[in-house]
Amino acid sequence: MNSPKHIKRSPQAKLVLGIESSCDECAAAVVTDDYQILASSVHSQEEVHSDYGGVVPELASRDHVRNVSEVTSDALAEAGAKPRDLSGVAVTAGPGLMGSLLVGLSFGKAFAYRFGLPMVGVHHLAGHLAAAELARPDLKRPYLGLVVSGGHTALYEVTEKKPPFLLGETRDDAVGEAFDKVAVLLGLPFPGGPSLARLADEGDEQAISFPRPLSNKPGLDFSYSGLKTSVALEVKSYGREMTRKEKADVAASFQAAATDVLVARSISALKKTKLRQLAVVGGVAANQRLRRSLGEAGNRLGFEVFAPPVSLCTDNAVMIAAAGAASLIAGEDDGLSLSAFSRVPLGLAPWRQDE
Ligand code: KG4
Ligand code: ZN
Repeated sequence: MNSPKHIKRSPQAKLVLGIESSCDECAAAVVTDDYQILASSVHSQEEVHSDYGGVVPELASRDHVRNVSEVTSDALAEAGAKPRDLSGVAVTAGPGLMGSLLVGLSFGKAFAYRFGLPMVGVHHLAGHLAAAELARPDLKRPYLGLVVSGGHTALYEVTEKKPPFLLGETRDDAVGEAFDKVAVLLGLPFPGGPSLARLADEGDEQAISFPRPLSNKPGLDFSYSGLKTSVALEVKSYGREMTRKEKADVAASFQAAATDVLVARSISALKKTKLRQLAVVGGVAANQRLRRSLGEAGNRLGFEVFAPPVSLCTDNAVMIAAAGAASLIAGEDDGLSLSAFSRVPLGLAPWRQDE
């Protein structure tokens, strides 16, 4: 299908519309091709999933359908931009929940077709890494990327030319998933990660010595299911409703174990690769205990830590627009046959036919 020919681009069109719908945030943003943020609109689905303690895929897709158009018009209005001012659209093509991805992708296609714009698919994790590069222009490749979210826990060597190289990843649960599951064990409201982090502020992180899985073993992989089981056994051992202080101690001790492992593995990866800059991205990068511990380790060992502001750690469309901008400037257009991929390694773009 060819794009309509009758729409004239503004000669100064250098703006990118980003759309993100891979999980439970429906977001749109407008970013300039030199990474200035003009607008960001995020609709979170907290109320939709709160009764279930986790994201319900079908409910997520339906909510994206209800909101994708509005977040896009909100972002364009906030940016003071018309569709003809855009140089292209960047949409998350994977990984994520298939139904949710398809909503953003289908909307992006319809929008791009209607306004005769090129559209590129963006890998969600490339988006998270782009958030660090956008927020911290002094972050220069090559650097170590620690990606910590609800679905991923991985270390990448991010270089200028080649796709990011995977150094290690979780063998089971993602760290964000562990935060969310422990929050459910403690009866905390959804979304679990931020609720748990708030309660942990009231607790003593040395109260319980939870395991730091794999942190003393060679290699750069992670494992979180054993830690989660230890917390479950600890909670069960009370045999009664825990007091708020007891819960806070469990939360703080779990948070310390979960984040200490990320710090230890990052230090090992920096030593192995001889890199001096670490970018920590993804929803769990919003965690203050993690940011603090990485910062302290950086000061002690002489490496720099770059973390985006919290609003760019959790899912948003600024990061997707930023990650897609370079491809659009390079003249790429994935076209209307672009597909969604629920699982796809970072560095692969199976939606780009010539790769
Ligand atoms: O990147 P993200 O928004 O979505 C995915 O790509 O998964 O990450 C969401 C994850 C959830 O597991 C959430 O509980 C966790 O990030 N999270 C946090 C915090 N804020 C969000 N975990 C720990 N502390 C936080 N402050
Ligand atoms: Zn994410």
